[in-house]
Amino acid sequence: MSLLIKNGRIITAVDDYFADIYIEDETIKIIGKDLDIQADEVLDAAGKFVFPGGIDPHTHFDMPFGGTTSADDFETGTRAAAHGGTTTIIDFAIQTKGQSTLAALDTWHAKAQGKTAIDYGFHMIVTDMADDRLHEMKKLADDGVTSYKLFMAYPGVLYVDDGTIFRAMRKAGEDGTVICMHAENGIVIDEIVKRARAEGKTAPKYHALTRPTRMEAEGVHRAISIAEVAGVPVYIVHLSSSDALEQVTQARNRGVHAFAETCPQYLFLDYTYYEKPGFEGAKYVMTPALRDKWNQEKLWRGLQFGDLQSVSTDHCPFCFKDQKTLGIDDFSKIPNGAPGVENRMALVYNGGVNSGYISLNKFVELTSTAAAKMFGIFPKKGTIAVGSDADIVIFDPNREETISVNNPCTHHMRVDYNTYEGFQVKGFPETVVSRGKVIVQSCNYIGKKGDGRFLKRGLYSGLH
Ligand code: URP
Ligand code: ZN
Ligand code: ZN
Repeated sequence: MSLLIKNGRIITAVDDYFADIYIEDETIKIIGKDLDIQADEVLDAAGKFVFPGGIDPHTHFDMPFGGTTSADDFETGTRAAAHGGTTTIIDFAIQTKGQSTLAALDTWHAKAQGKTAIDYGFHMIVTDMADDRLHEMKKLADDGVTSYKLFMAYPGVLYVDDGTIFRAMRKAGEDGTVICMHAENGIVIDEIVKRARAEGKTAPKYHALTRPTRMEAEGVHRAISIAEVAGVPVYIVHLSSSDALEQVTQARNRGVHAFAETCPQYLFLDYTYYEKPGFEGAKYVMTPALRDKWNQEKLWRGLQFGDLQSVSTDHCPFCFKDQKTLGIDDFSKIPNGAPGVENRMALVYNGGVNSGYISLNKFVELTSTAAAKMFGIFPKKGTIAVGSDADIVIFDPNREETISVNNPCTHHMRVDYNTYEGFQVKGFPETVVSRGKVIVQSCNYIGKKGDGRFLKRGLYSGLH
């Protein structure tokens, strides 16, 4: 099967030029001007951008959480991702207390295998780490799971103490792997939540009012400090506030291998969403919470100047009617998370490139290349180069869409609302190619369940 993409403007994290791309056996074989080659299929990309497929390094499909399970499984979630121009996701396997991480990996392989529309990898969430199981971490790395997520939040559920964090970090550093950190002081936040509940505060907005940004900043500071001593690169996930960003910036300025992602929800939404009428605010209950609007400008500056390296989604959807209502009488019981995997590329393009915050190259870096480098899949993924997997998005910079749960071009996620309902975007993926196969064409999914493959990721090799 061969494919020729003609006349496009190819944009990578560093290049910007017009050329044709010839693809065979799932990979990019030739890039050149006016290629005169026969191919099984020819696509004309005149007037369009040709981007590397998006990489979303933070999704939660089929995740048991908050007394329920996230609404997208690996089939529906990856299909929705593909519609939005994302051709690789990295999800999270979860080790529960006392369980082997290797058994946890088997469980997540079973959830995903044969179901995905696009390629996928796993980070491993560790909830405890007895000394006699530390050796498993090397085995995981050998099996292509080269990053972990640890939680300073959610005491009693996913939380790990500083001793466990240090032990896991030291071993991860020795093995050449990466630690992802949910950095918030969950112990203090739990105390604030307890008091709010005792005072009869039940509405969704109290989710945000009980999670001060200072407690996120404290977590970021502590995570980076422990990582510095343990000798491991640390990647702060879903960074939401200026206070937290300051801590990353300071650490990077003193030469620490500290990295961070933010998410569209923190770039485009703010605290006022919790004040929507009735229970509506529950749609935006996620952790960290949405912040005051002025933080958004700081996050954009962080992306522009390199203190934030990546934009992921933290896609963790729960249906409003059947799942968010678990917390109708108590904000602390609302399942934490929101959908977004499908809308990331268009939102960041529209809000970043069209608004003049970031260049086209930076857009590619933030939505694809940086994650590939951070998580051991570059240059197989994350760029357009001879030898790379042919994961490509032909992107129409002029196409306008209004994001809505009712728009068949913007919502394929299995959840009954869209976080960005009513947002207008200019610039939209037209054709999505995964390893040389066209899987989305003009809003139509033409791939098939099981097209995606597990990605054995390599060790950390530096993102500077
Ligand atoms: O609210 C969120 N973020 N839910 C998903 C779990 C996590 O903390 O990433
Ligand atoms: Zn988290
Ligand atoms: Zn998450």
